[in-house]
Amino acid sequence: MNKTFAVPRGTSDILPDAVPLWEELESKARKICKSYGYREIRTPVYEDVNLFKRSLGQTSDVVNKQLLELASAKEDEGYALRPEGTASIVRSYFENNFDKNEAISKFFYIGPMFRGERPQKGRLRQFHQIGVEVIVPGKSMSHRLDAEVLILCMHLLREFGVKEPKLKINSLGSKEDRNNISLWLREEFTKHKNELCVECQERFERNVFRVLDCKNEKCRKVVNSIVQDLPISEVSKEYFIGVQEALKEASIDFEIAPHLVRGLDYYTDTVFEITAGGGLGSQDAVGGGGQYDGLLHELGGDKRIEYGAIGFALGMERILLASEAEKPTLGIDVFLITFNCNDTRKEFKILNLLRQNGINADMNYLQASFKSQMNRANKLNARYVLILGEEEIKNNVIAVKDMQTGVQETVELKNIIEAIKDKLK
Ligand code: HAM
Repeated sequence: MNKTFAVPRGTSDILPDAVPLWEELESKARKICKSYGYREIRTPVYEDVNLFKRSLGQTSDVVNKQLLELASAKEDEGYALRPEGTASIVRSYFENNFDKNEAISKFFYIGPMFRGERPQKGRLRQFHQIGVEVIVPGKSMSHRLDAEVLILCMHLLREFGVKEPKLKINSLGSKEDRNNISLWLREEFTKHKNELCVECQERFERNVFRVLDCKNEKCRKVVNSIVQDLPISEVSKEYFIGVQEALKEASIDFEIAPHLVRGLDYYTDTVFEITAGGGLGSQDAVGGGGQYDGLLHELGGDKRIEYGAIGFALGMERILLASEAEKPTLGIDVFLITFNCNDTRKEFKILNLLRQNGINADMNYLQASFKSQMNRANKLNARYVLILGEEEIKNNVIAVKDMQTGVQETVELKNIIEAIKDKLK
């Protein structure tokens, strides 16, 4: 017996019935991002593996366990499928001299990402993100830019119909703060090592921040007893207050989450995550992001100047699970009924004329009864049905049936295109 194939684990087909929903999400995203002054960028789905290793952090789960590397014939080449978009955007930013040509660069992207995770509901190996990145060379960031990015993020989720999106924000402080906090936390958690879950006992040496957002009850207890607020510097505190005020001015609801740290290593200062209800279950983060100023130096930025950078990414599969989006009812404009299947020359000519004139049209190529052709027209949600029977051919006319009202009329064959165009106006 021939082997049948299935989609790889953790991936899925987006079937024709579902594609209109995806198209709608993408077109809303494009429209809204452009209205905030962001421009679309498209980067390859695979990159030099070291780009990800260097930017996402050797200690992050994404690099440690989830990078999908491509086998290469050449020894000095190593590629991996992109697990996220930020690193690629920063690579492209320098490679294409945006730093020299733009005082501020605002990008958005839509596309598939790949992580070798253990698949479950809302967690896939190939998933899709809508993301934005803002990069400012030569000066530090304005807290209003953080606010802009957050306002855009919530605007998108509202337009997508995501139910009860909850925005949580935190500040990790500067790079120096991060290092100090890391030392302090490691010291504190060492005293309570045996009370932590097995995974945290192992990972707190590698990346102590991840203990803060561990969901295990035992870890939550230890974390709550030690960390009320992250001890960040005055400058970072003031900046974070500025972000909060700008959000309040824009009437964006948020919650301060002192244990929110995010899973990628490149963040400093503002970090955030949005969770939602709906059908998400345990994988309830529809999006997340934050500031990553330091990554710009990591990936080739001029050490003599400072950079500001912030962005987020939203998971499209999770948005669809969490939204009330209904499948748009799409249909075709015209279905053409054929009678003489041995000679459909006339019908085929009309069909092509309709299509050349921008009218969505189709017909049956196989012999079928009138009834089954009408069923097909209904299934395709056709607005009009054209009927070209013997009588009509003899009189150089064609019958046009309005599928919504059921009214049928006769139109001269030579006027059919104009007549349909008029009706569709
Ligand atoms: P992230 O939190 O790793 O951040 O991913 C963002 C969103 O992508 C998640 O909140 C989730 O909705 C979705 N997502 C992530 N992994 C999966 C998965 N395995 N299956 C389904 N959905 C998933 C980033 O990727 C950062 N690059 C965001 C960013 C942009 N930070 C700054 N700029």
